[in-house]
Amino acid sequence: MTHVLSRCARLFGSLLLAGLLTIQVRAEEPLRHILFGSCLDTHEHPMLDRTLTLPCDLFLFMGDNVYADTGGIPLMQEKYRLLKQSRFFKGLRKVPVMATWDDHDFGQNDGGADFTHKREAQTEFWNWLDEPADSPRRRQEGVYTTRTFGPPGQRLQVILLDTRYFRSPLRTVPKELRLLGGPYTASDDTTKTMLGETQWRWLEATLDQPADLRLIVSSIQFAPEVHGGECWANLPHEQRRMRSLLKGQRVAFLSGDRHWSEFSHHGAFDFTSSSMTQKHPRGTPTANRHRIVPTTYHLPNVGHLQIDWDAATLTAKIIREDGGVALEHRVPFAELVVE
Ligand SMILES: [Fe+2]
Repeated sequence: MTHVLSRCARLFGSLLLAGLLTIQVRAEEPLRHILFGSCLDTHEHPMLDRTLTLPCDLFLFMGDNVYADTGGIPLMQEKYRLLKQSRFFKGLRKVPVMATWDDHDFGQNDGGADFTHKREAQTEFWNWLDEPADSPRRRQEGVYTTRTFGPPGQRLQVILLDTRYFRSPLRTVPKELRLLGGPYTASDDTTKTMLGETQWRWLEATLDQPADLRLIVSSIQFAPEVHGGECWANLPHEQRRMRSLLKGQRVAFLSGDRHWSEFSHHGAFDFTSSSMTQKHPRGTPTANRHRIVPTTYHLPNVGHLQIDWDAATLTAKIIREDGGVALEHRVPFAELVVE
């Protein structure tokens, strides 16, 4: 009897070990293809179908994942329901999906900390992503989150910021002084915040975790100069704080919001992909002296990051609806280090 039991235990043990090993090997696979997109004003579009045909180990929703800032929480629930039941979202769920929000899914155009329904909006955001009821993310204020993928030496940390929940009111200029992108301009009021102190402290702790490469998703652009729309340059002290916090780190920003795509560098690389389903009506970009690829792209698109861990390079591409490449830029890891 003892003999049979110990055989069973051994068999069970080895099965368990085999199972655990399988799970571990899968979890330790390095990521090589990351897709990043923003601004989905519909849940059915040829660009969304195209996205499902691209190589993908992780998909990042960078905000304006639904447009729900005009009809209260019932409209938001309906928009999330349509997205969740779409061919696109169901197709994506075969790979890990991470998300943050921008203003239209936060619930208020250009909204910030003073938006009164932000808690309800956050509940709907996590419901969309099936975040478990007891998850600490549901108790936290703001949807910022992080996850690390891959084995040591090929470890990718993905950080998604919340640039809405705590953001102070922005400084505006009179109509006659407006830039092409809108009414906002830089403020030297250092009491104004982009992330809020709680999120800044969380980010500091997150950056202490080991990683070989970090991606930071910010719904609004990090690197471009002030253009009138929402961007980090509107709060230059917060932009400086981020740059000094990231000093010496190997990092790239991913952003959306603008309804066109462009690649910039100002202290750090910032690859902007927007919109997945909308054509930019004006078709011309705002001025940006930090743009590193002269062309911009104003039709539906998705961003593709390819990480070559052996060659130690990261290649950012903007993919068109027909699958072609609109923009491309390759960066050796060494150039990703923030100075
Ligand atoms: Fe948008």
